[in-house]
Amino acid sequence: MRSVTLTDLYNHPITQKYVRRSGMAHAIAVAHHAFDLAKEHHVNPDLAAKAGFLHDIGHYEWYNDGEWDYDLYRNYDIHPIKGAERAHKLLVRLGEDKHAAKEIAHAVLFHTDSALPKGDYQLSPLQKVVHLADEMDKQPGDFHHYRSSDKEKELSLIQELDRKIDSSL
Ligand SMILES: [Fe+2]
Repeated sequence: MRSVTLTDLYNHPITQKYVRRSGMAHAIAVAHHAFDLAKEHHVNPDLAAKAGFLHDIGHYEWYNDGEWDYDLYRNYDIHPIKGAERAHKLLVRLGEDKHAAKEIAHAVLFHTDSALPKGDYQLSPLQKVVHLADEMDKQPGDFHHYRSSDKEKELSLIQELDRKIDSSL
């Protein structure tokens, strides 16, 4: 029995505020991809789906005079760092197992190296799965951040994934 489900995460106001900012449809798609990849990479599917769902929770809005400023974003963004902390706080607050919360936070931190110092990172299988899942959903022009879907559809995809995770554990 999992102490925190994806539905719990989805329903939380923090998720609705910050995950919606970077695209709820993208987050849900990445969660599904991460679940699918978890099996072949011998990774816990619950942790993979949660990290996939929360991976972009750290995004900030880089607006300048009402327009998204890509230069500001490219030069100053730290969304993987902020996201790791935000995801960790949310998970712990909801009662997630502390070891799981740390693993998920690390997977959020390493899903992209865009905000990390240059280096040769040895990614754990879980970190690799979340990175690959994110890549699988990327679209030209960053369109994946702007795709939308209705809330009923979102919730049914989240619940479907919760059922899949429950039956795979
Ligand atoms: Fe992403």
